[in-house]
Amino acid sequence: MLSYIIEGGKKLEGEVHISGSKNASLPIIAATMLNKGISKLYNVPEIHDTKMMFEILKKLGCTVKKNNKKIIIDSSKAEGYKIPEELMRQMRSSVVLAGAILGRHKKAEFSYPGGCDIGARPIDLHLKSFEKLGILISENYGNISCKCDTIDNAKIDLDFPSVGATENIMLASTLGEGTTIITNAAREPEIIDLQNFLNRMGAQISGAGTNIIQIKGVKKLKDVSYNIMPDRIEAGTYLCAGAITGGKIKITNIVSEHLTPIINKLEEAGCSLNVQKDNIELIAPKRVKAVDLKTMPYPGFPTDMQSVFVSLLTTAKGTSIVVENIFENRYKFVPELSRMGAKITVEGKAAIIKGVRKIHAANVKATDLRGGAALVLEALVAKGETKIENIQYILRGYEKLDDKLKKLGAKISIKEGE
Ligand code: EPZ
Repeated sequence: MLSYIIEGGKKLEGEVHISGSKNASLPIIAATMLNKGISKLYNVPEIHDTKMMFEILKKLGCTVKKNNKKIIIDSSKAEGYKIPEELMRQMRSSVVLAGAILGRHKKAEFSYPGGCDIGARPIDLHLKSFEKLGILISENYGNISCKCDTIDNAKIDLDFPSVGATENIMLASTLGEGTTIITNAAREPEIIDLQNFLNRMGAQISGAGTNIIQIKGVKKLKDVSYNIMPDRIEAGTYLCAGAITGGKIKITNIVSEHLTPIINKLEEAGCSLNVQKDNIELIAPKRVKAVDLKTMPYPGFPTDMQSVFVSLLTTAKGTSIVVENIFENRYKFVPELSRMGAKITVEGKAAIIKGVRKIHAANVKATDLRGGAALVLEALVAKGETKIENIQYILRGYEKLDDKLKKLGAKISIKEGE
């Protein structure tokens, strides 16, 4: 069992380089299955979730080599079409491999990913979309088998702008017959990155970033090199870390326009931000002001930043109201914050946060990836030494978090064992 030990009370100051996006890397790694050849990926973050995806690709018959910052994937002999249940359960986002495997092999077998720490995480929109593409689906005891002769084209209107379902339709249709159109598509920047990667391979996809995406099926794809976009959630997490400690930090290697809703909320809370195209400098006030926010699909305030922002608001002047509209169970971290002195009441989708002056250290446990990040921020401002257990959740999505925070002046170390 790994834990963080954090001595709070230090203002964060300095510069932090943001890594490649976890949520752009995962569907792009899956997409390498579509081309029977070589894909070279740069700026893939070295985190648990990307390592898991590489393990699954190897089980499907790919070779994956790492040379310095470059990942070389050779999928020319990847005959596998079954996603191992254990790996599927450990990482539900591997469901986007289904679309890529179907695109290549016209068959796929995988299990229901199962719920996780933030909600039931159903895949009904994915399966309904596959059926519209002419894919026959049979299920038994949680295992799903998909097959088809060809991937048809269809007009698919998503009930909800699901990121994963949008990605799965794009992946399955890249080598399909004719043109598929997705309406009410997710508009996240990671969808644009996936479109750019697929088109670099020779696909003909347009509209990513809007709510209408068109995929014109092609017959063949080619070898590709691609540089993954920066991680906007990691970037937002460090901005909030600077803000909660009353510090002054600069984040580099970002696409600032991806962070607009986060920038707006931090300015509303009293931070001053110098925003350039690929970097942002934040100067925090002694104490931020209370703000209200609602999570929404992109370009609204991202759900993945909700927990980290709740942490920031625990020490604000005044009372804030946060509403989580995307996932039904994304406040599991709140009782852990309360152990440190935070005053938060959860009423259904809403969390009411009464700002306090003092947060104190405690022994707490990470409940999920972003909830764990929220505990790290709280520990940075807590008086005393905080121990955060179950940090394997956090290591899923943040590359070298302890090193990056140390570079900003934080006192943080990793402890093995109980
Ligand atoms: C992606 O998850 C991200 N993960 C999540 O980031 C992110 O929170 C989420 O998009 C929303 O932005 C990756 O990209 C790997 P959804 P995804 O399908 O695709 C419901 C993180 O911390 N839904 O847009 O699973 C679902 O239950 C992770 O980095 C259905 O009802 O999100 C949820 O309430 C967490 N049926 C809502 O839609 C479906 O078939 C949004 O889910 C699919 C989804």
